[in-house]
Amino acid sequence: MSRLDSFIRRMTAQRECLNAAAPQIAEMPGVILELGLGNGRTYDHMRGLFPERDIYVFERKVAAHPDCIPDDDHLFTGEVLDNLPVAAARLGRTAALVHSDIGSGRPETDVILFGQLVPLLNSMVVPGGLVLSDQKLPADDWQALPLPDGVAAERYFMYRVGA
Ligand SMILES: C[S@@+](CC[C@H](N)C(=O)[O-])C[C@H]1O[C@@H](n2cnc3c(N)ncnc32)[C@H](O)[C@@H]1O
Repeated sequence: MSRLDSFIRRMTAQRECLNAAAPQIAEMPGVILELGLGNGRTYDHMRGLFPERDIYVFERKVAAHPDCIPDDDHLFTGEVLDNLPVAAARLGRTAALVHSDIGSGRPETDVILFGQLVPLLNSMVVPGGLVLSDQKLPADDWQALPLPDGVAAERYFMYRVGA
């Protein structure tokens, strides 16, 4: 598979998983957390999917398309592990959906990051809420959900958070 093919499959997986999440949380009130703004592509897609919801974005260093940068009230700039406790204190356990796209591709780094991320998300995601991730997350008590048609196993990850 060429790098172009791989990129297209990753973007397609993101879009299909986000699209699949939308009806699953339709009846569930709550905010949305976007971990990793990047270019703002998935943030922009979620704005379209969830026009009525607050979307809070966590980004180490903002460098997105100018049209895809949230206002200051919805942006936590800096390390996600530092900012999630700040957000939890402000927002409480109110997130119906989290989209995490912050994998570094370095397993030794990610294992530490995700090991700390999961308990923080447990404090913010409502029971039954969804977590979508570009990487497998170490959350044994979350239910791994089936991926949408056309998304290969382990290309993306969808979880339902327990009580
Ligand atoms: C792959 S990009 C996200 C792309 C985005 N989903 C899009 O559609 O444009 C990952 C982003 O996460 C940010 N990031 C990675 N690790 C982070 C961390 N520990 N804390 C905060 N931001 C982080 C990076 O700065 C980068 O902008």
